[in-house]
Amino acid sequence: MIVAVGNVKGGVGKTTLAVNLAVALAAQKRDVLLIDGDEQQTAMAFTDLRAANGDAGPGYTAVSLQGAAIRTQVRQLTPKYADIIIDVGGRDTGSLRAALTIADIVLIPVQPRSFDLWGVDQTAELVREAREINDKLRAITVLNGADPQGRDNEEAAAVLREHQSLEHAPTWIVRRKAFPNAAAAGLSVLEYDDPKAIDEFNRLMTFAFVYPNDIGKVANGNR
Ligand SMILES: Nc1ncnc2c1ncn2[C@@H]1O[C@H](COP(=O)(O)OP(=O)(O)O)[C@@H](O)[C@H]1O
Ligand SMILES: [Mg+2]
Repeated sequence: MIVAVGNVKGGVGKTTLAVNLAVALAAQKRDVLLIDGDEQQTAMAFTDLRAANGDAGPGYTAVSLQGAAIRTQVRQLTPKYADIIIDVGGRDTGSLRAALTIADIVLIPVQPRSFDLWGVDQTAELVREAREINDKLRAITVLNGADPQGRDNEEAAAVLREHQSLEHAPTWIVRRKAFPNAAAAGLSVLEYDDPKAIDEFNRLMTFAFVYPNDIGKVANGNR
């Protein structure tokens, strides 16, 4: 399975979802490749930190690739891995376009704020273009950094559901300290003690992928 995590907007949680996804799938004993498509290399930095914290390594393989190289390299690497996760960062849409032409699924994290909602139109347009050559592409918007309460989440979800060409994940990932705190320790939220964050992340995994829905917290097995 090739999963791109992308949005033309920055700071929406692409890297956060991508690294958590890589750890979650690796915890299922799957061979996972994480591609850091962002020149800022945040996913690589997370992986280095994770590797430095344990003896067994990060649990997955990570490489840094940008632009058209994503497409050519993934074609070659597909037979070697069960799953390839692409953190498609950067303001340049070249990496995003390349990733969308080869992905099975694109997860589009969106924050429930108006500017972020408007940016989804541009991402949806890139999805439409990519489907001309990649008609299997599933595109899923997911609210990330959602408010713990209030009406904004539901209003944002209603706007996202209007996009006929995009699925909308029926689960919100709320803004929780567990995400930055876990990342700062080189951990996934699944390895961190916040049952609500774990539950929300698992619900997203279950909606987007064939994934056991009772996984709960995963053992921090590497260290
Ligand atoms: N659900 C969340 N709750 C709290 N903080 C989050 C959440 N998702 C992301 N963040 C934080 O928001 C910031 C931007 O997230 P990041 O994954 O780097 O976004 P992007 O890769 O899209 O630029 C980071 O500091 C990250 O820890
Ligand atoms: Mg990022």
